[in-house]
Order: sequence, then C-alpha cells, then structure tokens
Amino acid sequence: MKILVTGGSGYIGSFTSKSLLDKDYEVVIADDLERGHKEVLDKRATLEQGNLLDKDFVAYLFQKHKFDGVIHFAGYISMAESTERPYMYFENNVFTAINLLDNMYRNGVNNFIFSSTAGVYGSPKYTPIPEDHPKNPENPYGESKLIVERILSWSNKIHGISFAALRYFNASGAALDGSMGEGHNPETHIIPNAIKAALKGTDFILYGEDYDTPDKTCVRDYIHVLDLAEAHILALNKLIKDKGEYFYNVGTGKGYSNKEVIEMVKMVSGIDFKVNIAGRRPGDANILVADPTRIQKELSFRPYHSSLGTIVETAWLWHKKSLNN
Ligand SMILES: NC(=O)c1ccc[n+]([C@@H]2O[C@H](COP(=O)([O-])OP(=O)(O)OC[C@H]3O[C@@H](n4cnc5c(N)ncnc54)[C@H](O)[C@@H]3O)[C@@H](O)[C@H]2O)c1
Repeated sequence: MKILVTGGSGYIGSFTSKSLLDKDYEVVIADDLERGHKEVLDKRATLEQGNLLDKDFVAYLFQKHKFDGVIHFAGYISMAESTERPYMYFENNVFTAINLLDNMYRNGVNNFIFSSTAGVYGSPKYTPIPEDHPKNPENPYGESKLIVERILSWSNKIHGISFAALRYFNASGAALDGSMGEGHNPETHIIPNAIKAALKGTDFILYGEDYDTPDKTCVRDYIHVLDLAEAHILALNKLIKDKGEYFYNVGTGKGYSNKEVIEMVKMVSGIDFKVNIAGRRPGDANILVADPTRIQKELSFRPYHSSLGTIVETAWLWHKKSLNN
C-alpha cells in the first residue's frame, strides 16, 4: 500500500514513516523541509519536496502517485507562536488540509489520518478527557486543528472520505537507540528544554508554580513517539476495514507534573540544573490527561514505551548524541 506522509521530515512524521516502512508500506513524504530535517529521512521513502500550500504541487503529487491513504502531519505546532502569528497558523494548518482533501476527492483517495491535538478541548471541565468532552480551543493553533476536524466531517459526509483525527497529548521521547529524536525550532516542549538545560549548563525556565494541582505545576499526559507512530498504523487499518469518521485521544491516561518531569530529567542525566520560575503561559490548563478508553477498545492500542522513565531516557540518549555530532 502506498501512503502519502506529509511533514514526514518532522518529529512524529519521521518516526511514523519508519514504522510504516518497517511494515512494508510504500511511503512518499511531502515536506518543504522548512521545519523538518533532511537527515532523518528514511532512504526507503520517496521525498517530494514542496509546500502543501502550493496547489500545483499538491495536484502534481496525486497525478504522479496513486495513494491508498494520506497521513497529514505537516503544519505549524507551537501554541505560543500561534498567539503571535494567528493568520500564519490558520493558513498553513487549514489550507494544506483543504488542498490535500480536494485532490483526494478528485483522485478517489479515501483514507485520511489527521494530526490533531488535545488543544481542541481547551481548559478541560473535567479530567481525564474523553473524546466527547466540549471543544473550546484557547489559541489559534488549537482552533486551526478543530476547524480541520470539522472540514473532515463534511468531507466524509459529502465525498465519503473516511478519516481518523488523532488528538495527541504530549508527544515525547526518541528512538530506543537514540538514533532519532525531537528537534523543533522553536522548541517549546518541556522535556527537550529541560535536557538542553542539563546538557548546556543553562537555567531551565518553569512557567508557573501556582496551578491548581498537588505540586502547583501543570500536569500533562506524555505519549512516546514510537507508540504514537503505532497509533497511526492502527488507525489506518481501521479506516481500510471500516469506512467512517473517527476521533481518538492518543494518550496514556496518566499525568505527570512539570516538577516530576524536571526531577526525572535530573535523575536520568545525573545533572542538577537550576530552575527559574516564570509567570504562567497564556492558555496553559492545570491538568490535561487523556481518557484513552476508546482507542484502547476500538484499536487495541497499548502504549508500551510511554512510562516517563523510558521517555526521558530515550530523549536524553538522543540529545546527548546529537550534541556530539
Ligand atoms: N509534537 C507534539 O507534541 C504534537 C502534539 C499535538 C499535535 N501535534 C501535531 O502533529 C503534527 C506533527 O508534529 P511534529 O512535532 O512532528 O512537528 P514538526 O514541526 O517536527 O514537523 C512538521 C513538518 O511539517 C513540515 N511542514 C509544515 N508546513 C508545511 C507545508 N506547508 N508544506 C510542506 N511541509 C510543511 C515541516 O517542514 C516539518 O517537517 C503537527 O500537525 C502537529 O500540530 C504535535
């Protein structure tokens, strides 16, 4: 089966491409490499370099290849940046999806997996969060993902395009041998930033110590990128078997506070870096923990690599290696 993986030179896309290739799927990666890394591209994949906002480029992809499905990772991912540059986020995250869907419809491609986010829920009214929890995004990034989810429902109703919107909680971790990992620019995620503080001897900035949680710091649900990659393959198989529209939380159901994450990074690295407390970031909820019952029941999803220890150990291994290269 031939799968178009957009954003396949980015963090989650590169891991999912590798998992697909290991399972003998044919993979075409479409990425403009603006925020991705050419060196993570798997040699077994075909790279089509271009911007998915360019309608001619997207039309060319579907003329050249006969895809059985599309996994759409490409997009901008920073909540904070989206509050400064909302139009850039709406344009890139919404119009890339429309360009793909339009060409899928014209070329009879019916299976779409979408990288959505826990950010569609906003500050939750209750936790753990099930998929039918009210949606109330608190920044343009989360809103852009919710808009695409709604467009997908219309695509399913009108053109019969089946889709799974995977609402990731916190993607994290690296390859078990440290050969691939997370490299965002800008980097806003706590684990890579705490590891960088440990490696470079800089202070770590902790945003907010006045949340309504047991240790007063935010609580998040971390999902290892290898488990996340597997969730995409399970969702793809589901679409091929049972047409329709599906929404899944991809998390573990267990939360860790920012302080627990920092302690884990200090323990794994053996380095005691300084933590400076800054004010809250706008839109950061107290607790964001998934209720993963649906994906566990319907797709038999099991997050084998998502203990905080494994996540931080693999991330540490990768960051240490990449600093030495
Ligand atoms: N990382 C997380 O914790 C997280 C959480 C929730 C959702 N997501 C979603 O998962 C997806 C992948 O996230 P990631 O962490 O791998 O991001 P990433 O920034 O590492 O990868 C995104 C890739 O998309 C490419 N890209 C962006 N816009 C493009 C365009 N217009 N045309 C072609 N290529 C383009 C970039 O060059 C990059 O390689 C994103 O859609 C993100 O919103 C990520």
